[in-house]
Amino acid sequence: MTIVISMTDIYTVKIADLYKETKDTVVLTFDIPEELHETLRFIQGQHLILRKTIDGEDVRRTYSLCTSPDDNIWKVAIKHIPGGVFSTYANKSLKKGDTIDIMKPSGNFFVKTNPEHANNYIAFAAGSGITPIISMIKTHLEREPNSTFKLFYLNKTTKSIIFKEEIERLKNLYFQRFHVFYFLTKEQRDIEFLNGRFDKEKMEILTNNFIDIEDTAHCFLCGPKDMIFLIQDELIAAGMPKKNIHYELFFSGDAEVSDLQFAETLDKMPDGTVVTIIDGGKEFHFTMDDGYQTLLDGALAEGADLPFACKGGVCSTCRCKVIEGEVKMKVNYALEQHELDQNLVLSCQAVPISDKIIVDFDI
Ligand code: FES
Repeated sequence: MTIVISMTDIYTVKIADLYKETKDTVVLTFDIPEELHETLRFIQGQHLILRKTIDGEDVRRTYSLCTSPDDNIWKVAIKHIPGGVFSTYANKSLKKGDTIDIMKPSGNFFVKTNPEHANNYIAFAAGSGITPIISMIKTHLEREPNSTFKLFYLNKTTKSIIFKEEIERLKNLYFQRFHVFYFLTKEQRDIEFLNGRFDKEKMEILTNNFIDIEDTAHCFLCGPKDMIFLIQDELIAAGMPKKNIHYELFFSGDAEVSDLQFAETLDKMPDGTVVTIIDGGKEFHFTMDDGYQTLLDGALAEGADLPFACKGGVCSTCRCKVIEGEVKMKVNYALEQHELDQNLVLSCQAVPISDKIIVDFDI
């Protein structure tokens, strides 16, 4: 028997404020009614999933909250990506007073705050990668009076720096505990070191002169994957334990692995895997058909209402636990080893390779 699974928690809220932070980045503040404050409470560094039907299509994207949880303000910045359906809509069509669907904040890109901590934190961000980082900077510096933060922030030009004013305000507020270094790719400055992207050479200069690796508690990285993995490797080479380096990737089209690269796994796909999905305490059964490779796409096509956002293996909104059977993931930029060890997978990337699988979304 097929039972329809429960609806994901979705809240329709109004846009309380909307302004252009830079030429191509809009900042949205949501009008969250008092009674939803607890339900939608977030931790610094977490993201919101936004949903809108655009030209008849259910479009969802994740955006990091850029406020501190202590502000009681829910705000995201959306950079326009040429050709991007949601970011174009947000930057060009959305207006103050419009409604939009949001889902509960989620994500593991944070470390716990503690007023007793006297930690030194560092962060590397590129462009709109600043959004979760600025939330962390505000929260840690406010809640931990003895902690410090160093930000290394890459942009094209001075004008394209997102939250420049806010960062300068924080610099004044915490002038002994917060330091920022702006790196620009399309504007030449006198200090050569501050021109251009992060590379091996720059990282060596930074780790030798600006970052006391031994005395750094945690590092946060947010940007494109090449940047993140380069910085991570260099920090590890300089002596920073991998467990203290936390990152969140931008989702970009290249997060998809081509079917060619995944051909061997696709070959192993049985003709019709019998799938059981547990969600909201109920079961949903279907048989994976040809034409759908991933568990998520197969289930959505059968009418299941499962949580997802990026569909690129980045946000972990679609994660579930494999109870029985076997799947292979195309890419995984979201789950850590200890989660994989517990049989957690990203359903948007999971291709079934056994005749029968049971997965649980109630985790
Ligand atoms: S929907 Fe984002 S990781 Fe699957």
